[in-house]
Amino acid sequence: MEFKRTLVTSALPYANGPLHIGHIAGAYLPADIFVRFNRMLKNDIVFIGGSDEHGVPITITAEKEKVSPQVIIDRYHNMNKKTFEKLGISFDHYSRTSAEIHHKTAQEIFTKIYKNGHLLEKEIQQFYCEKCNMFLADRYIEGVCPHCGCDGARGDQCESCGKWIEPIDLKNPKCKICGAEPIIKTTKHWFLQMSKFQEKIENWLKSKKWKDNVTNFCKGWFAEGLGERAITRDINWGIKVPLPNTDGKVLYVWFEAPIGYISSTKEWSEKIGKPEEWQKYWRDEKTRIIHFIGKDNIVFHAIVWPIILLASDYAHLPNEIPANEFLNISSRKISTSRNFAIWVDDVINKYNVDSLRYAIAANAPETRDTDFSWEYFQEKNNNELADNIGNFVNRAGVFIKNFYNNIIPEPIDLDDNCKQMINKTIETRDKMFDLFSNFQVKEATKIFMAFAKECNKYFNDSAPWHCFKNDKNKCSNCLYISINLVKWLAQLMSPIMPFSAEKIWQFLNLSGECSKSEWCAIGVDFLKAGHKINEPQILFTKIDDKTIRAEIDKLLNTGADNKNQNQTAPEKKAQSEKIENVIDIVDINYFSKIQLRVAEIIKAENVEKSKKLLKLQIKIANDERQIVAGIAEFYKPEQLIGKKIVVVYNLKPAKIFNIESNGMLLAAKTKDKLVLVTPETDIDTGAVVG
Ligand code: MF3
Ligand code: ZN
Repeated sequence: MEFKRTLVTSALPYANGPLHIGHIAGAYLPADIFVRFNRMLKNDIVFIGGSDEHGVPITITAEKEKVSPQVIIDRYHNMNKKTFEKLGISFDHYSRTSAEIHHKTAQEIFTKIYKNGHLLEKEIQQFYCEKCNMFLADRYIEGVCPHCGCDGARGDQCESCGKWIEPIDLKNPKCKICGAEPIIKTTKHWFLQMSKFQEKIENWLKSKKWKDNVTNFCKGWFAEGLGERAITRDINWGIKVPLPNTDGKVLYVWFEAPIGYISSTKEWSEKIGKPEEWQKYWRDEKTRIIHFIGKDNIVFHAIVWPIILLASDYAHLPNEIPANEFLNISSRKISTSRNFAIWVDDVINKYNVDSLRYAIAANAPETRDTDFSWEYFQEKNNNELADNIGNFVNRAGVFIKNFYNNIIPEPIDLDDNCKQMINKTIETRDKMFDLFSNFQVKEATKIFMAFAKECNKYFNDSAPWHCFKNDKNKCSNCLYISINLVKWLAQLMSPIMPFSAEKIWQFLNLSGECSKSEWCAIGVDFLKAGHKINEPQILFTKIDDKTIRAEIDKLLNTGADNKNQNQTAPEKKAQSEKIENVIDIVDINYFSKIQLRVAEIIKAENVEKSKKLLKLQIKIANDERQIVAGIAEFYKPEQLIGKKIVVVYNLKPAKIFNIESNGMLLAAKTKDKLVLVTPETDIDTGAVVG
């Protein structure tokens, strides 16, 4: 079907803390790039966001700080809204779920579902803390998971096995606030009869060609049966249940939060002076609705939310749910509770915003988890942005300034090399068109950088500094083409690096904004000879090793389990030195999934340009593999040959420094020492360690 317009949403972040780069990689940057690209296609597209301001995590933060939840949401709503602006996430509207219009819309939808007969009213048994005088919903309660036996499971979901938990099933329950053992009390709740819609949703999902991660996540749910889910809670913070005698009861946050997409669109409609405009976006099947999310939100968007829409008959179903995987940092999962995270504000207050956008886009976790590290950020910024793009743009500008007084020279008889660059521009544009259209930001970014490298090569090969004296036409042709390539590069990069694109636009002395130029004009519309350009500006500055080192240290030092904010300085220091001791208790089932085996090192070599890494070939029984290990500061390659070591045998392969690594060796380390873990006496490779 031909769509007339598009509505794009990004998952509403909880107003419960600042944004880290994992958030950005999941739901915001990919959406923003898609939207900016579509705006350049002149498509009718609206980009909606907002803060998710209800739910138990927020009230728990408020209790910890001894302030009201309102204080928390005001703080983080404002903070995150600003962060998005600075990062160039170009929402048409950014609302919040505490807005009155949202409360009304959510209640209206609840009422519709109620009237349509899809809710069950049930008396159920719930944990109640007599000390705190409250029912313990969701994260207010902790205990042992009834499915996997893991401790620390919460009343809504077990983080260890990922399963949903009916809170009453938790073993050894404890009140999260006071630690007391709760009693069981009867309370009344409303359940959405999801099973009624299961067949319809299953068929609907089957008809979509969405990413495997979405389909696979949902399969598990269908297999278990959707059943009924309580969509109300006994807490004081949230949207009141719109039924009589329901004091102290609110709508479950996951029921109302996605409705925030609609409320935010309504607010946007009012803002632009067309209060009914939202209906076009939500109710006309000719609108394509796209929800960008992280993988932890899949079930809610692909199953629960569509059922809410069907049961209320309020709006049409989403057309696309591009769900992204996670971005790890140096192979470790981001953890806000342990403060192991890179905060967006920290990066963009110090470094180029576009460098961050580019680095994330170039390794976007589209089909698998990917890795971000400070070294990676430095490499992208220095080697690709500064050395490649920055250098090309700058040289084109400097030569036109020096040779032609800032005036674009006349092209005369363009040769094949020049013409080829025009063709390559168009090819790149069209490839990027396909990739962007299919949410493949990572590949599009790669194609873009490959093209920028070609532009550099073209410039080098044409060597205008040589031909200025003896082949004037070649020189002017090269600079004429190069400055046009600069313009087209600006347009191609605009969705990914909007700030740099505008800088180039100004340097080229063009009117309007690059982001408002037309995608299809790339490679077609030329800057004319005789046009005067401005002085070139530095686009990207290099980041030195010392700066990056400091960032890494900071990350590691804050990455400890510093839940206790009131530590003294020596305590903090002791703890940060114990960073490796961050302990997650795991049960034996969990641990036994990790296979350790004895291996022998048969080859070892240094990794070019890396002080820390060695590339090793190892033998494990009949299997030979390559691993990359960060041990170069402690071992010379020749010391290692023939050594037996212990490796993680079933680790997901990864690329380290762009080199395939298929396993990980075990080593013991302190602050300044590292030794390999080896079998005490000789034993065959392949021997199982455990
Ligand atoms: N606040 C949720 C999270 O950060 C996402 C909510 S998305 C919405 O995981 F659709 F429900 F709004
Ligand atoms: Zn309690």
